[in-house]
Amino acid sequence: RRPVSLPRLAQMRAAGEKITMLTAYDATFAAVADAAGVECILVGDSLGMVCQGLHSTVGVSLDDMCYHTASVARGLHRAQATAWLVADLPYGSYQESREQALRSASALMQAGAHMVKLEGGGWTAPTVQFLVERGIPVCAHLGLTPQTVHALGGYRVQGKDDVAAATLRRQARELQDAGAAMLVLEMVPAALAAELTQALTHCHTIGIGAGNGTAGQVLVLHDMLGVNLGKMPKFVRNFMQEAGNVKGAMAAYVQAVKDGSFPDNQLHAW
Ligand code: KIV
Ligand code: NA
Repeated sequence: RRPVSLPRLAQMRAAGEKITMLTAYDATFAAVADAAGVECILVGDSLGMVCQGLHSTVGVSLDDMCYHTASVARGLHRAQATAWLVADLPYGSYQESREQALRSASALMQAGAHMVKLEGGGWTAPTVQFLVERGIPVCAHLGLTPQTVHALGGYRVQGKDDVAAATLRRQARELQDAGAAMLVLEMVPAALAAELTQALTHCHTIGIGAGNGTAGQVLVLHDMLGVNLGKMPKFVRNFMQEAGNVKGAMAAYVQAVKDGSFPDNQLHAW
């Protein structure tokens, strides 16, 4: 297997092969996910809830993200893994200025990330461009952006009305033009996510709760393993139940995303 790279992801996209992503927060799960065929590992700031017991991602620090990113990177290295490693810029680490964003992104890259992810549209486009021009691949994130949950009024579907959909379309274009190579679309209507995917030929859409028309899919690892204390979101499928073991569950996820059986727009989308 060859290492996953931006050209490789573009090849997959061109060939119509779906891109798979799972979160991981430690060395072992990351290595097992890679061995199961997952192309992209996201060290998500969801680790605030999953690992730290926080109520939202707002309390996660850059040091926390660097610690987990370094752990995942070591796990992938030891396992001679090929996965593309994406790390979240946490709340407050990129909003102040493009320079602040670059400093924070550099810390994640030095911890072993291949790409950084940041939330939001509009004001983020110049920041994305600033990072991309300086050699840092960027994944954007639109729709439900958990770092702004308090401004959004809860974890709810975004882009439902015409005005919100038009804003999403504009922001997605701006992010592609700024050089974002990837775009997570979280909890947006399936039809809108599919439309954005068609429109963005140079930026790979990765959906979560966004239907099956995106270029790829992502889930929080613990959710798809059924290891979740709270209410399971509607868009999650429990792959552990079917597979019975962790690596098998990850492989089943990869298979289901590739063959288009997950997500099911009737069951897992809006
Ligand atoms: O933090 C995270 O896990 C994420 C994904 C859900 C996209 O941002
Ligand atoms: Na995140």
